[in-house]
Amino acid sequence: MARYSDDVLNEVRNSVDLVELASAYVRLKRSGRSYMGCCPFHKEKTPSFHIDADKQLYHCFGCGAGGSVFQFVMAAEGLDFPDAVKFVAERGGVRLPELGDDSEEIYRRKREMYAMNKAAARYFRDCLFSPEGEAARAYLQRRQLTSRTVASFGLGYAPGSWDGLLRHLEGKGFPKDMMAETGLCIRNEKGHMYDRFRDRVMFPIFDVRQNIIGFGGRIMEGDGAKYMNSPESIIYDKGKNLFALNIARKSKRGYYVLVEGYMDVISLHQAGIDCAVAGCGTALTEAQARLIAKGGTVYLCYDMDEAGQKALARASSIFNGLDAKLKVISIPDGKDADEFIKKYGGAKFEELLDGSSSVAENDVNRLLEKYDTSDVSQTVELLNEAAPMLASIGNAIEREAYIKKLSASTGISVQAITAEVNKAGRREGRRQMREQVIKSVSQSRPSRSPTAKSRRESAEAKLLGILTEDREVYDKIRDNLTPELFSEGLNRDIFTEIQECYKDGEPSAEQYLLSRFERREEELAAVIIKSDNPDNGLAAAEDYINVIRNEDLKERIAEAEKNGDTVLLAQLIKNKHRKAGT
Ligand code: UTP
Ligand code: MN
Repeated sequence: MARYSDDVLNEVRNSVDLVELASAYVRLKRSGRSYMGCCPFHKEKTPSFHIDADKQLYHCFGCGAGGSVFQFVMAAEGLDFPDAVKFVAERGGVRLPELGDDSEEIYRRKREMYAMNKAAARYFRDCLFSPEGEAARAYLQRRQLTSRTVASFGLGYAPGSWDGLLRHLEGKGFPKDMMAETGLCIRNEKGHMYDRFRDRVMFPIFDVRQNIIGFGGRIMEGDGAKYMNSPESIIYDKGKNLFALNIARKSKRGYYVLVEGYMDVISLHQAGIDCAVAGCGTALTEAQARLIAKGGTVYLCYDMDEAGQKALARASSIFNGLDAKLKVISIPDGKDADEFIKKYGGAKFEELLDGSSSVAENDVNRLLEKYDTSDVSQTVELLNEAAPMLASIGNAIEREAYIKKLSASTGISVQAITAEVNKAGRREGRRQMREQVIKSVSQSRPSRSPTAKSRRESAEAKLLGILTEDREVYDKIRDNLTPELFSEGLNRDIFTEIQECYKDGEPSAEQYLLSRFERREEELAAVIIKSDNPDNGLAAAEDYINVIRNEDLKERIAEAEKNGDTVLLAQLIKNKHRKAGT
């Protein structure tokens, strides 16, 4: 894969301000030259997310996330590196060069596929309004969609013929291979090609940049799958896109409503609830959840049937690790959002939003509906199912409130239920601990939380931070600095790069480091973003050097003791006293 050159990446990186860009995702407070806020990438109440405005790097001391604007956009928007670069370039108004070899080819191919999908959507729309679209128009009318809604979602109709679209696209010069690749057409074993979507109402699926990346097609009557969907392709990753997110992004409501179906989304938007989105015919992924989490509220609106509630439980566990307030909407009489709105109107749906419950409340209500509390064995089952769920509620008050509620409805004492919940909690705690241990063993990376950092490591990091931004300090103390002062590995590498950079007379090393540590920005940020900005960089740097030397000495003394090397030990201890005397 070809890559953008360092120059290009630097230009793109410099075209935006990380503080400004990040402000759209996290409320930042200024403190000196750094900005702090609650990390948008994990749940927290006290801010441990830092941005260093000078270095244009961020780091969260809580979860370890960090890097440059590219990593930020990757995490915040759920994009991969090349897409994050494109995203930032668009923001900063930088025209990206086309990539050489392989990637340039892919880039061009994608653009042509977008163009082809657009041509297909036009064709479907024209068919909808042609005589052969009469039944489809009637269908949409039956479903009470206004012509404005039909237009704004770009709905259309794929006629019943086997090759109407194929011939149309061929006439526009699109290659057949590409029709097969996007899945608009299907090639059978004999090599014969035909249209995938026939006699269906068509729903184009847009990405957030307004490209059409795929289609869903609904059957109007008769047998066959209710919906047919485009397959995944280089432009359509179903796990990374949400239906109508291109519109919902612009909503002023400040929250999202996640529903199950295309029609639910469309009905909600028609009723003015323009922040509704849905998956693309597949189960929710973490990448999709990230797209709408971002610190706000997400209303989950799933079907009330068994399958819908299972999907809801899965979705809520996916959101668990993310920064979002979850609410559950239960639609009465087993209807979906679309049916509800058709029957009661949008205003009533707004009431459902107001009356939404927490995930726990919804779970408890479901259990009470599912089991017959006048039956002893069913009551036991109910409480067994409830215990682990209640144990997972972080807030003690909320937990106790539900225990009381269950006690009242089942007649089992609060003490007995609490005992079971606590038992389940300990089981869960042990499970989590096991997972943690496994994780930390399998992750050879050392912990990056500041408390776990040794004195030496933290002094090294702070020293590197000062040296990176202040060449003057570096010049004054450079005789005291050698690569060996720094721990082998990343820290020493950073230092030698700083040395290298200052040979060229640069005033500071930030840019240089960023380009030298490309794709290791997260590690870099974890080291050189300091949580404090000393006023006197020189004095602080000298202090840190002393700390490092002392710690180094201590390590060597411990080593000599362990090896029983008394001669070396005596020498080292003498050194130590001499140092202490000065
Ligand atoms: P539903 O079966 O709930 O359909 O599927 P719906 O959205 O209520 O549609 P209408 O109101 O009957 O027209 C929910 C979603 O699951 C996916 C689609 O994304 C659909 O919107 N789905 C469903 C498929 O991909 N294929 C299917 O055959 C059915
Ligand atoms: Mn429906």
